[in-house]
Amino acid sequence: MKALILSGGKGTRLRPITYTGAKQLIPVANKPILFYGIEAIKEAGIDDFGIIVGDTKEEIRKAVGDGSRWGIKVTYIEQKEPLGLAHAVKIAEDYLRDAPFIMYLGDNILKEGVKEFVQKFKDKKPNALILLTPVPNPQSFGVAELDQEHRVKRLVEKPKKPKSNLALVGVYLFDKNIFKATKAIKPSWRNELEITDAIQWLLDEGYIVESHRVTGWWKDTGKPEDVLSANRLILESMERSIEGEIIESRIEGRVVVKEGAKIIRSVVRGPVIIGENTKIIDSYIGPFTSINSEVIVEESEIENSIVMNKSLIKNMKKRIDESLIGREVKIFASSRKPMVNRFILGERSQMEVFQ
Ligand code: G1P
Repeated sequence: MKALILSGGKGTRLRPITYTGAKQLIPVANKPILFYGIEAIKEAGIDDFGIIVGDTKEEIRKAVGDGSRWGIKVTYIEQKEPLGLAHAVKIAEDYLRDAPFIMYLGDNILKEGVKEFVQKFKDKKPNALILLTPVPNPQSFGVAELDQEHRVKRLVEKPKKPKSNLALVGVYLFDKNIFKATKAIKPSWRNELEITDAIQWLLDEGYIVESHRVTGWWKDTGKPEDVLSANRLILESMERSIEGEIIESRIEGRVVVKEGAKIIRSVVRGPVIIGENTKIIDSYIGPFTSINSEVIVEESEIENSIVMNKSLIKNMKKRIDESLIGREVKIFASSRKPMVNRFILGERSQMEVFQ
């Protein structure tokens, strides 16, 4: 089997972070979202990867390289315009040829990995296997309607009046018949070739489409709150490990402190990850925070947030909560007191608040 990872798109709902970076490379627990997908697929025994790239191709190439770090082979396939998920499959035909494949949206994270679904696909050999999970807001996703025997009856992309709460998760397994579907369907109202429509075409033509219910958590990290939520879920399952230096500080619970990091006169309450060469000085780092490498946090309080590389947070005594802070961002306070802090800042932003 092969893998097709979709790592194009503009990530408009994650601006300004995505003005300067691919959304699939936003770090969750200090690791790019995309890497979770690569690792889950590799764990399912697949090592031939095609990665669809768009405007952010250089960045994705730089981060993933030739894949040798994971023991996989990577072929990059360029999608010149984001014309839809089914369009991505269409342009990958030369790479995929007749191989059955797993298609994985590069901004999705699944707790349980994909091993079980890949095995089910190999055992039952349907033409397509889709993953479903109940969600509170089905109108934001592809939605499946099942019949009494739990077989897939109909699939609709972002329906205004959803017939069920079962969303299509961004992981699909296909055999070569999907190419016929991608050629037969027409663009949707958003001018994209929808994979949901392609699978509906398979159903209409009598092909076998199986479904599998995802039981663990699943996140499509399209929006800042989804990224923070994925961050909480990943941090939740981390083990304590301290490699850096702890000086006159209290480290409580599941905390990871990477090599070269220094925690000085501070309190860190897990789950938290602190990256390499980061300094935490006279500060409080609260639960569900990921601080990447070479960051300085001084005289500040922060929790439930993500801070990317090389940023500086200083004198922010009013606690920062629920924030997504890009690379090389500077946040520092002067003398007036704001009651609450909530930031979504892009790379190299600079912000000064009074207290
Ligand atoms: C896409 C699919 C949708 C699916 C979702 C999962 O949506 O079109 O059917 O439920 O991914 O992440 P999009 O991210 O294009 O809005």
